[in-house]
Amino acid sequence: MGFPTERPRRLRRTEILRGMVRETQISSNNLIWPMFVRAKGEDEPIAAMPGVFRYNSERAAEEAKAAFEAGIPALMLFGIPDKKDPIGSASWQKDGVVQRAVRAIKKAAPDMIVITDVCLCEYTNHGHCGVIKDGEVDNDATLELLARQALSFLEAGADIVAPSDMMDGRVGVIRKAMDDAGYKEQAIMAYSAKYASAFYGPFREAAGSAPGFGDRKGYQMDPANAREALREVELDIEEGADIVMVKPALAYLDVIRRVREITDLPVAAFNVSGEYSMVKTAAAAGMIDERQVVMEILTSIKRAGADLILTYHARDAVGWMDST
Ligand code: PBG
Ligand code: ZN
Repeated sequence: MGFPTERPRRLRRTEILRGMVRETQISSNNLIWPMFVRAKGEDEPIAAMPGVFRYNSERAAEEAKAAFEAGIPALMLFGIPDKKDPIGSASWQKDGVVQRAVRAIKKAAPDMIVITDVCLCEYTNHGHCGVIKDGEVDNDATLELLARQALSFLEAGADIVAPSDMMDGRVGVIRKAMDDAGYKEQAIMAYSAKYASAFYGPFREAAGSAPGFGDRKGYQMDPANAREALREVELDIEEGADIVMVKPALAYLDVIRRVREITDLPVAAFNVSGEYSMVKTAAAAGMIDERQVVMEILTSIKRAGADLILTYHARDAVGWMDST
Protein backbone atom coordinates (compact mmCIF):
# COMPACT_ATOMS: atom_id res chain seq x y z
CA MET A 1 0.00 0.00 0.00
CA GLY A 2 2.91 2.44 -0.49
CA PHE A 3 3.08 5.30 -2.96
CA PRO A 4 1.10 6.14 -5.03
CA THR A 5 -1.96 4.29 -3.65
CA GLU A 6 -1.75 5.94 -0.24
CA ARG A 7 -1.86 9.74 -0.36
CA PRO A 8 -2.51 11.39 3.04
CA ARG A 9 -2.67 14.75 1.25
CA ARG A 10 -6.13 13.78 -0.12
CA LEU A 11 -7.66 14.79 3.20
CA ARG A 12 -5.75 18.05 3.45
CA ARG A 13 -7.04 19.65 0.25
CA THR A 14 -9.39 22.29 1.67
CA GLU A 15 -10.07 23.86 5.04
CA ILE A 16 -13.53 22.20 5.12
CA LEU A 17 -11.99 18.80 4.55
CA ARG A 18 -9.25 19.45 7.11
CA GLY A 19 -11.90 20.54 9.62
CA MET A 20 -13.82 17.28 9.08
CA VAL A 21 -10.87 15.10 10.04
CA ARG A 22 -9.35 17.35 12.70
CA GLU A 23 -8.57 15.26 15.78
CA THR A 24 -8.23 17.97 18.41
CA GLN A 25 -10.64 20.85 18.94
CA ILE A 26 -9.88 23.55 21.42
CA SER A 27 -12.89 25.25 22.95
CA SER A 28 -13.44 28.14 25.35
CA ASN A 29 -14.81 25.51 27.77
CA ASN A 30 -11.25 24.31 28.23
CA LEU A 31 -9.82 27.64 29.33
CA ILE A 32 -9.07 28.97 32.82
CA TRP A 33 -7.85 32.56 33.06
CA PRO A 34 -5.26 33.27 35.80
CA MET A 35 -5.73 36.68 37.46
CA PHE A 36 -3.72 38.70 40.00
CA VAL A 37 -5.70 40.57 42.63
CA ARG A 38 -4.67 43.13 45.23
CA ALA A 39 -6.37 45.39 47.77
CA LYS A 40 -6.61 48.69 45.93
CA GLY A 41 -5.24 50.93 43.24
CA GLU A 42 -5.50 51.34 39.52
CA ASP A 43 -4.88 48.45 37.13
CA GLU A 44 -1.16 47.86 37.53
CA PRO A 45 0.69 46.46 34.54
CA ILE A 46 3.23 43.70 35.10
CA ALA A 47 6.38 44.58 33.20
CA ALA A 48 7.47 41.00 32.58
CA MET A 49 4.00 39.98 31.33
CA PRO A 50 2.74 42.39 28.66
CA GLY A 51 -1.07 42.63 28.76
CA VAL A 52 -1.39 41.25 32.31
CA PHE A 53 -2.44 43.49 35.23
CA ARG A 54 -2.94 43.42 38.96
CA TYR A 55 -6.57 44.34 39.68
CA ASN A 56 -8.35 45.58 42.78
CA SER A 57 -11.45 43.57 43.67
CA GLU A 58 -13.88 45.89 41.88
CA ARG A 59 -11.86 45.78 38.69
CA ALA A 60 -11.38 42.04 39.08
CA ALA A 61 -15.16 41.66 39.16
CA GLU A 62 -15.61 43.79 36.03
CA GLU A 63 -12.94 41.88 34.18
CA ALA A 64 -14.38 38.56 35.34
CA LYS A 65 -17.84 39.50 34.13
CA ALA A 66 -16.51 40.55 30.73
CA ALA A 67 -14.45 37.37 30.46
CA PHE A 68 -17.45 35.22 31.38
CA GLU A 69 -19.59 36.98 28.78
CA ALA A 70 -16.83 36.37 26.24
CA GLY A 71 -17.05 32.64 27.00
CA ILE A 72 -14.37 31.99 29.61
CA PRO A 73 -15.91 29.70 32.24
CA ALA A 74 -13.33 29.96 35.02
CA LEU A 75 -10.70 32.08 36.73
CA MET A 76 -7.71 31.20 38.90
CA LEU A 77 -6.97 33.88 41.48
CA PHE A 78 -3.58 34.82 42.91
CA GLY A 79 -3.48 37.32 45.77
CA ILE A 80 -0.96 40.08 46.35
CA PRO A 81 -1.41 41.13 49.99
CA ASP A 82 -0.40 44.45 51.55
CA LYS A 83 1.44 42.78 54.40
CA LYS A 84 3.55 39.66 54.59
CA ASP A 85 4.78 37.71 57.61
CA PRO A 86 6.67 34.45 58.28
CA ILE A 87 3.51 32.28 58.24
CA GLY A 88 1.43 33.99 55.54
CA SER A 89 -1.42 34.93 57.87
CA ALA A 90 -2.75 37.55 55.43
CA SER A 91 -4.02 34.64 53.34
CA TRP A 92 -6.75 33.51 55.75
CA GLN A 93 -8.24 36.85 56.74
CA LYS A 94 -11.93 37.35 56.08
CA ASP A 95 -11.03 40.63 54.44
CA GLY A 96 -7.98 39.30 52.59
CA VAL A 97 -7.33 40.28 48.97
CA VAL A 98 -8.50 36.97 47.51
CA GLN A 99 -11.52 36.72 49.80
CA ARG A 100 -12.65 40.19 48.73
CA ALA A 101 -12.09 39.44 45.07
CA VAL A 102 -13.99 36.14 45.29
CA ARG A 103 -17.01 37.86 46.84
CA ALA A 104 -16.95 40.68 44.27
CA ILE A 105 -16.57 38.29 41.33
CA LYS A 106 -19.34 35.99 42.57
CA LYS A 107 -21.62 39.00 42.83
CA ALA A 108 -20.82 40.28 39.34
CA ALA A 109 -20.67 36.89 37.60
CA PRO A 110 -22.39 34.31 39.83
CA ASP A 111 -22.01 31.44 37.38
CA MET A 112 -18.32 31.91 36.79
CA ILE A 113 -16.24 29.16 38.38
CA VAL A 114 -13.80 30.75 40.79
CA ILE A 115 -10.65 28.80 41.56
CA THR A 116 -8.17 30.03 44.13
CA ASP A 117 -4.49 29.15 44.21
CA VAL A 118 -3.62 27.84 47.67
CA CYS A 119 -0.03 28.51 48.69
CA LEU A 120 1.90 30.55 51.22
CA CYS A 121 4.61 32.07 48.99
CA GLU A 122 2.63 35.18 48.01
CA TYR A 123 1.99 35.89 51.70
CA THR A 124 5.26 35.02 53.43
CA ASN A 125 8.03 37.58 53.89
CA HIS A 126 10.64 34.93 53.01
CA GLY A 127 8.77 33.99 49.81
CA HIS A 128 8.75 30.24 50.41
CA CYS A 129 5.65 28.09 49.92
CA GLY A 130 5.73 26.84 53.51
CA VAL A 131 6.84 27.83 56.98
CA ILE A 132 10.54 27.80 57.82
CA LYS A 133 12.03 25.73 60.66
CA ASP A 134 15.80 25.52 61.09
CA GLY A 135 16.34 27.11 57.70
CA GLU A 136 14.16 24.55 55.89
CA VAL A 137 10.58 24.55 54.64
CA ASP A 138 8.77 22.39 57.20
CA ASN A 139 6.29 20.11 55.47
CA ASP A 140 3.97 19.06 58.26
CA ALA A 141 3.81 22.43 60.01
CA THR A 142 2.73 23.97 56.68
CA LEU A 143 -0.24 21.66 56.12
CA GLU A 144 -2.63 23.12 58.70
CA LEU A 145 -1.93 26.63 57.40
CA LEU A 146 -2.77 25.59 53.85
CA ALA A 147 -6.01 24.03 55.09
CA ARG A 148 -6.83 27.24 56.94
CA GLN A 149 -6.22 29.28 53.80
CA ALA A 150 -8.30 26.93 51.65
CA LEU A 151 -11.25 27.05 54.08
CA SER A 152 -11.11 30.83 54.17
CA PHE A 153 -11.28 31.02 50.35
CA LEU A 154 -14.19 28.56 50.36
CA GLU A 155 -16.00 30.59 52.97
CA ALA A 156 -15.70 33.60 50.67
CA GLY A 157 -17.37 31.55 47.93
CA ALA A 158 -14.63 29.83 45.91
CA ASP A 159 -15.80 26.82 43.89
CA ILE A 160 -12.45 25.07 43.61
CA VAL A 161 -9.24 25.30 45.64
CA ALA A 162 -5.92 24.58 43.97
CA PRO A 163 -3.00 23.76 46.26
CA SER A 164 0.24 24.68 44.49
CA ASP A 165 2.79 24.35 47.28
CA MET A 166 3.96 20.76 46.61
CA MET A 167 4.07 19.79 50.30
CA ASP A 168 3.51 16.06 50.86
CA GLY A 169 0.05 15.14 52.10
CA ARG A 170 -1.59 18.52 51.56
CA VAL A 171 -4.43 17.27 49.39
CA GLY A 172 -5.48 14.80 52.09
CA VAL A 173 -5.32 17.40 54.84
CA ILE A 174 -7.27 19.96 52.80
CA ARG A 175 -9.89 17.38 51.80
CA LYS A 176 -10.38 16.34 55.40
CA ALA A 177 -10.67 19.95 56.54
CA MET A 178 -13.24 20.58 53.77
CA ASP A 179 -15.26 17.52 54.74
CA ASP A 180 -15.20 18.48 58.42
CA ALA A 181 -16.31 22.02 57.59
CA GLY A 182 -19.11 20.84 55.29
CA TYR A 183 -17.58 21.84 51.93
CA LYS A 184 -18.65 18.61 50.26
CA GLU A 185 -19.53 20.07 46.87
CA GLN A 186 -16.35 22.09 46.34
CA ALA A 187 -13.52 20.54 44.36
CA ILE A 188 -9.75 20.31 44.69
CA MET A 189 -7.61 20.95 41.63
CA ALA A 190 -4.20 19.70 42.71
CA TYR A 191 -1.00 21.05 41.25
CA SER A 192 0.17 17.43 41.34
CA ALA A 193 3.22 17.44 39.09
CA LYS A 194 4.65 20.88 39.58
CA TYR A 195 8.25 21.26 38.54
CA ALA A 196 10.97 23.52 39.95
CA SER A 197 10.95 25.53 36.75
CA ALA A 198 12.68 28.69 35.57
CA PHE A 199 9.56 29.38 33.50
CA TYR A 200 7.89 30.87 36.62
CA GLY A 201 10.23 33.89 36.55
CA PRO A 202 7.69 36.49 35.35
CA PHE A 203 5.04 35.22 37.80
CA ARG A 204 7.36 35.83 40.72
CA GLU A 205 7.70 39.44 39.62
CA ALA A 206 3.91 39.67 39.21
CA ALA A 207 3.17 38.20 42.63
CA GLY A 208 6.30 39.44 44.40
CA SER A 209 6.85 35.86 45.53
CA ALA A 210 10.48 35.05 44.67
CA PRO A 211 12.09 33.13 47.54
CA GLY A 212 14.27 35.40 49.67
CA PHE A 213 16.88 32.68 50.10
CA GLY A 214 17.57 29.38 48.35
CA ASP A 215 15.16 27.94 45.79
CA ARG A 216 12.12 25.65 45.61
CA LYS A 217 13.97 22.47 44.60
CA GLY A 218 13.38 20.88 48.01
CA TYR A 219 9.63 20.71 47.34
CA GLN A 220 8.94 21.25 43.62
CA MET A 221 9.88 18.45 41.23
CA ASP A 222 13.12 17.90 39.35
CA PRO A 223 12.51 18.64 35.62
CA ALA A 224 14.36 15.43 34.78
CA ASN A 225 11.69 13.18 36.34
CA ALA A 226 8.56 11.82 34.69
CA ARG A 227 7.89 8.58 36.59
CA GLU A 228 7.92 10.58 39.81
CA ALA A 229 5.19 12.80 38.33
CA LEU A 230 2.95 9.74 37.97
CA ARG A 231 3.56 8.84 41.61
CA GLU A 232 2.66 12.40 42.67
CA VAL A 233 -0.54 12.19 40.63
CA GLU A 234 -1.46 8.80 42.15
CA LEU A 235 -0.92 10.13 45.66
CA ASP A 236 -3.08 13.20 45.05
CA ILE A 237 -5.86 11.04 43.61
CA GLU A 238 -5.70 8.73 46.64
CA GLU A 239 -5.87 11.79 48.90
CA GLY A 240 -9.00 13.09 47.20
CA ALA A 241 -8.08 15.36 44.27
CA ASP A 242 -10.85 15.97 41.74
CA ILE A 243 -8.61 17.39 39.00
CA VAL A 244 -4.85 16.85 38.63
CA MET A 245 -2.49 19.34 37.07
CA VAL A 246 0.85 19.32 35.29
CA LYS A 247 2.89 22.53 35.37
CA PRO A 248 4.51 24.03 33.28
CA ALA A 249 2.92 22.77 30.06
CA LEU A 250 5.13 23.14 27.02
CA ALA A 251 8.38 21.59 28.18
CA TYR A 252 6.30 18.84 29.85
CA LEU A 253 3.94 17.63 27.12
CA ASP A 254 5.25 14.09 27.62
CA VAL A 255 4.28 14.28 31.29
CA ILE A 256 0.78 15.51 30.38
CA ARG A 257 0.42 12.54 28.03
CA ARG A 258 1.59 10.03 30.63
CA VAL A 259 -0.69 11.47 33.31
CA ARG A 260 -3.60 11.30 30.85
CA GLU A 261 -2.89 7.61 30.40
CA ILE A 262 -3.02 6.71 34.10
CA THR A 263 -6.19 8.52 35.18
CA ASP A 264 -9.74 9.15 34.09
CA LEU A 265 -9.92 12.32 36.15
CA PRO A 266 -9.78 15.62 34.28
CA VAL A 267 -6.19 16.67 33.63
CA ALA A 268 -5.23 20.35 33.70
CA ALA A 269 -2.06 21.94 32.38
CA PHE A 270 -0.67 25.35 33.33
CA ASN A 271 0.73 27.33 30.41
CA VAL A 272 2.87 29.41 32.77
CA SER A 273 4.09 32.99 32.89
CA GLY A 274 7.45 32.38 31.19
CA GLU A 275 5.76 30.55 28.32
CA TYR A 276 3.40 33.50 27.93
CA SER A 277 6.12 36.14 28.10
CA MET A 278 8.26 34.40 25.47
CA VAL A 279 5.35 34.44 23.01
CA LYS A 280 4.45 38.08 23.77
CA THR A 281 8.05 39.24 23.40
CA ALA A 282 8.68 37.40 20.16
CA ALA A 283 5.36 38.61 18.77
CA ALA A 284 6.07 42.23 19.73
CA ALA A 285 9.41 41.95 17.94
CA GLY A 286 7.61 40.76 14.82
CA MET A 287 9.30 37.37 14.91
CA ILE A 288 6.18 35.22 15.15
CA ASP A 289 2.46 35.52 14.45
CA GLU A 290 0.97 35.70 17.96
CA ARG A 291 -2.46 34.41 17.11
CA GLN A 292 -1.26 31.40 15.17
CA VAL A 293 1.40 30.54 17.71
CA VAL A 294 -1.02 30.77 20.64
CA MET A 295 -3.63 28.59 18.95
CA GLU A 296 -0.96 26.06 18.00
CA ILE A 297 0.30 25.97 21.60
CA LEU A 298 -3.17 25.53 23.10
CA THR A 299 -4.07 22.85 20.58
CA SER A 300 -0.81 21.01 21.31
CA ILE A 301 -1.40 21.06 25.07
CA LYS A 302 -4.85 19.62 24.48
CA ARG A 303 -3.54 17.05 22.00
CA ALA A 304 -1.02 15.92 24.62
CA GLY A 305 -3.97 15.04 26.86
CA ALA A 306 -5.02 18.08 28.90
CA ASP A 307 -8.74 18.76 29.29
CA LEU A 308 -8.23 22.13 30.93
CA ILE A 309 -5.63 24.77 30.17
CA LEU A 310 -4.70 27.59 32.51
CA THR A 311 -3.39 30.35 30.30
CA TYR A 312 -2.77 34.09 30.38
CA HIS A 313 -3.70 34.02 26.67
CA ALA A 314 -7.30 33.09 27.58
CA ARG A 315 -8.83 36.50 26.86
CA ASP A 316 -7.18 36.76 23.45
CA ALA A 317 -7.76 33.12 22.62
CA VAL A 318 -11.56 33.20 23.10
CA GLY A 319 -11.75 36.12 20.74
CA TRP A 320 -9.74 34.28 18.13
CA MET A 321 -11.88 31.17 18.50
CA ASP A 322 -15.06 33.10 17.85
CA SER A 323 -13.84 34.53 14.62
CA THR A 324 -12.70 31.23 13.10
C1 PBG B 1 2.62 29.60 43.79
C2 PBG B 1 2.50 29.50 42.31
C3 PBG B 1 3.47 29.79 41.33
C4 PBG B 1 2.84 29.63 40.10
C5 PBG B 1 1.52 29.22 40.36
N1 PBG B 1 1.35 29.13 41.73
C6 PBG B 1 4.86 30.26 41.46
C7 PBG B 1 5.91 29.36 42.00
O1 PBG B 1 5.70 28.21 42.34
O2 PBG B 1 7.02 29.89 42.15
C8 PBG B 1 3.46 29.87 38.76
C9 PBG B 1 2.52 30.39 37.71
C10 PBG B 1 3.19 30.98 36.51
O3 PBG B 1 4.43 31.02 36.37
O4 PBG B 1 2.44 31.42 35.64
N2 PBG B 1 3.34 28.57 44.36
ZN1 ZN C 1 4.05 28.89 46.42
